[in-house]
Amino acid sequence: MNILVTGGMGYIGSHTCLALYKAGFTPIIYDNLSNSSIKVLEQLKIIANHTFEFVEGDINDRDKLEATLNDYNIKAVFHFASLKAVGKSTEQPLRYYDNNVSGTVTLLTAMQKSAVKQIIFSSSATVYGDPQYLPIDEKHPITATNPYGWTKVMVEQILNDWCLANEQNLAIALRYFNPAGAHPSGLLGESPTGIPNNLMPYISQTAVGQREFVNIFGNDYDTEDGTGVRDYIHIMDLAEGHVAAFSTHQKDSGSLVYNLGTGKGYTVLEIITAFSSSANVEINYKFAPRRAGDIASNFANASLAQEKLGWKAKLNIKAMTDDTWRWQSKYPNGLED
Ligand code: NAD
Ligand code: WQD
Repeated sequence: MNILVTGGMGYIGSHTCLALYKAGFTPIIYDNLSNSSIKVLEQLKIIANHTFEFVEGDINDRDKLEATLNDYNIKAVFHFASLKAVGKSTEQPLRYYDNNVSGTVTLLTAMQKSAVKQIIFSSSATVYGDPQYLPIDEKHPITATNPYGWTKVMVEQILNDWCLANEQNLAIALRYFNPAGAHPSGLLGESPTGIPNNLMPYISQTAVGQREFVNIFGNDYDTEDGTGVRDYIHIMDLAEGHVAAFSTHQKDSGSLVYNLGTGKGYTVLEIITAFSSSANVEINYKFAPRRAGDIASNFANASLAQEKLGWKAKLNIKAMTDDTWRWQSKYPNGLED
C-alpha cells in the first residue's frame, strides 16, 4: 500500500518512512527540502537497502499534490510537513499559518479531489499549554501560547470538521511529547540549522565541541533539582507509534487523538548527565534565566495508546543519548558536510 509522507525527509518523517517500509507499506516522500537535506535519501537507502520514491514539492502546491496522489495511487497520508521553530513563529506568524494551516487545507483539498480519506497528523504536546494536571491525558483542555502551537490546535480542529463532514474520513492526530535520539546505526538523526532551540541537539553539539556550554534555562522550578522536566521519547519508538496507529485504525473512520510519550519525565540536569556518560565527555553548563513561555514539567499519560494501539515506548534515556551521540559524532555538521 502506497502512503504519501509529507515532510518525509525531515527528522521524524524519515525515521517513520523506515518503520513504514519495515511494516510492509510503501512510503512516497513529498518534501520541499526547506528544512532537510536531499542526502537523507542516500541514508535511507543504505539503512533499508531500498530506494525510496521522492517527489520534491510543497504542500501549498495543490496541482502537484493531486498529481502525486493520483500517479502513485496513494491510500493514506502521513502529514509531517510543517515549520516548527516556536520563537520564529512569534516573529513570522503569517508564514507559520500559511505553511502549517493553509498548507494542510491545501493537502486535504487535494486528498478530497483524489478520494484519499485517511490522514495521520503530527500534532504536539504543545497543545496542552501549561498543564493543569500531570500526567497529561488526551482529555486535558487544549490551547496554545505561540503561533506555532496555535497552528497545531487549528489543524486538529480542521481535521475534526473534515471528519464530521464525511463519515468515511479518518484523521489521527498524534501528540508527540519531546522527540529525541537517532537511528541506532548513527546514519540518520536530527540536524537543526543554526543554533538549536531544543535541548538534546544543543547538548550534543556541546559534547562534540561546537558549543562551549549548555545554558540551562532556570534552576528554580518546582522540580526535583529545579530544572525543567520533559517526557523525552526515542525517535524509533515514535516512528513505530505512527505505524501502530495507522495499522490499528486502517478500517475505521472519525477523528482520533493519541499522546505519544513514555509517561516518565527527566530534568535538564539528568539529560546532561546521561549524555555525558554516553559521549564520555564532560559537558559544561551554566544556569541562565528561565526561557519565556517555558513550563516547569510535562509528561504524558500514554495509556490510551497502549490500550488501543498496543503501542508502548520501549527505549530509555540511555538509548536516546547513546544513539544521538553516535549520529552526532559521525556527522558533526549534519549530512551537508
Ligand atoms: P523537520 O523540520 O525535521 O521536518 C519537517 C519536514 O517538512 C522538513 O523536511 C521540511 O523540509 C518539510 N516541509 C516543511 N514545510 C513544507 C512544505 N510547505 N511543503 C513540503 N515540505 C515541507 O521537523 P520534525 O522534527 O521532523 O517534525 C515533523 C513534524 O512533527 C512537524 O509537523 C512538527 O511540527 C511536529 N512535531 C515535532 C516535534 C519535535 O520536537 N521535533 C515535536 C512535536 C511535533
Ligand atoms: C526542553 C527543556 C528547556 C534548551 C519544544 C516546543 C514544543 C515541541 C518540542 C514541537 C526545557 C530546557 C532547552 C536549552 C535548556 N516542538 N532547555 N537549555 O520546550 O519542551 O518543547 O520542542 O512541537 O512545541 O516548545 O523542548 O528541547 O526546547 O526544552 O535548559 O538550550 O530543556 O527550558 O525545560 P520544549 P526543548
